[in-house]
Amino acid sequence: MGGDASTAQTEARGQWSSSLGFVLAATGSAIGLGNLWKFPFITWNNHGGAFVLVYLLCVLAVGLPIMMAEILIGRKTQKSAVGAMKAAFGKRWGIVGGWGVLAGFVILSYYAVIAGWSLYYFVKTVGWSLSGFPSGIQLGDEFTSFVARGGLQIILSGLFLAATMGIVLSGVKGGIERTSRVLLPILFVILLLLLASALSMEGSGQALAFIFRPDFSQLGMSSVLEALGHAFFTLSLGMGAMITYGSYMTKKQSIVQASAVIVLLDTVIALVATVIMFSVIFSVPGMEEQVGASTVGMLFISLPELFYTTVPFGRLLAPAFYILVAFAALTSTISLLEVVAAYVIDERGVERKKATLMTGSAIFLVTILCSLSFGGWEALSRFEIFAGKAGIFGTLDHLAANWILPVGGFLITLATGWFMTREDAESELAAGGVPAWYHFGSWRFFIRYVAPVAVGAILVAVIFFGVDFS
Ligand code: PHE
Repeated sequence: MGGDASTAQTEARGQWSSSLGFVLAATGSAIGLGNLWKFPFITWNNHGGAFVLVYLLCVLAVGLPIMMAEILIGRKTQKSAVGAMKAAFGKRWGIVGGWGVLAGFVILSYYAVIAGWSLYYFVKTVGWSLSGFPSGIQLGDEFTSFVARGGLQIILSGLFLAATMGIVLSGVKGGIERTSRVLLPILFVILLLLLASALSMEGSGQALAFIFRPDFSQLGMSSVLEALGHAFFTLSLGMGAMITYGSYMTKKQSIVQASAVIVLLDTVIALVATVIMFSVIFSVPGMEEQVGASTVGMLFISLPELFYTTVPFGRLLAPAFYILVAFAALTSTISLLEVVAAYVIDERGVERKKATLMTGSAIFLVTILCSLSFGGWEALSRFEIFAGKAGIFGTLDHLAANWILPVGGFLITLATGWFMTREDAESELAAGGVPAWYHFGSWRFFIRYVAPVAVGAILVAVIFFGVDFS
């Protein structure tokens, strides 16, 4: 599309109504299954304390600067991923944006499956809360047979994608922002209730010690890399989601302040979720062995029963918890779809509604394959490229976390650090809330040196040492 008629174009593209609107939408994108499902699980597997500390360092030293860089690129160019990279750095860099669109496509196609599970467990727990938890039920077996029901899996993930499409086609302000404005406060309230209940449990002391008392003898190199990779995933970085959301921001809003709030909230929520889950788990003898067994085990096998047997007010909190997971996932899936849809809207000139339906349906086709990869379809479930990552689902998750996001993040930090003039970067960062020269100087140091070196190290580790951090 040409650069003419740019005012009309900006209006047609949509904008956040305020700084708060942007912060809520972007925080909604960041907070998701990464916080509630992945982070507790990898913290568990990496033995807590020291891992958490390294993760926090990664968030601060790499995540925050790249968050600022992505929003800056989007706001400066007022274009979504592909167009923004082209406009900011030259035509060739468009491919980095394209890489991000691909990432959005891939991540959404498998993310929707787990999101669908939260709907199912919401309905189930509502039933249990009303009629009593069935005794003698084997939740592990239940789960295995549930995920193997192909038809049901397709319906659940399809429902979730349909909701996502409905929001995205309603536009930036009327769809995405409005949804985040409603869901995020609810999410915070539910989490606080869960936290209060969890802290009253006897395992909470042990949980806090596990999470916050570092024991560096437990920390291997692979944990460091895993922490860094997760920082990308959880902050929605490396694929242009923040570029796209940033492109709907006005010059009156401060990038620095917004970034700080988004990163802080995402981190706090991940820690709170972990405290909640570990408090429950440490309160039940024998639970520790069960939990480490599978990535989804903690959320869908261990927790459901504990709500009814152990957690104070668990009857009320169990459905609240699963609706929380669904809401958190939804504010993330809309950002994933938005990246893909906005590309088609901005670069191909397709109208929003049509673009959303087209891209969402295309993604659904891949989602169907992911839905069937938990036993629903033998060949898809056994399919394996990366050792130990079984099924289309496992393969795509591995691909996204280990390859696509870090590569995207690396190129974005390289571009911003080395191919954008100091003046351009500074004036954009300063607009709407002025960073003093020393703030700007330290951001630039991180974006030029610290972030590329750290991310480059992940890539080298994955390529040459085969370290896995999905
Ligand atoms: N940040 C989201 C989560 O933690 C996942 C996500 C990744 C969303 C990349 C958008 C882009 O669940």
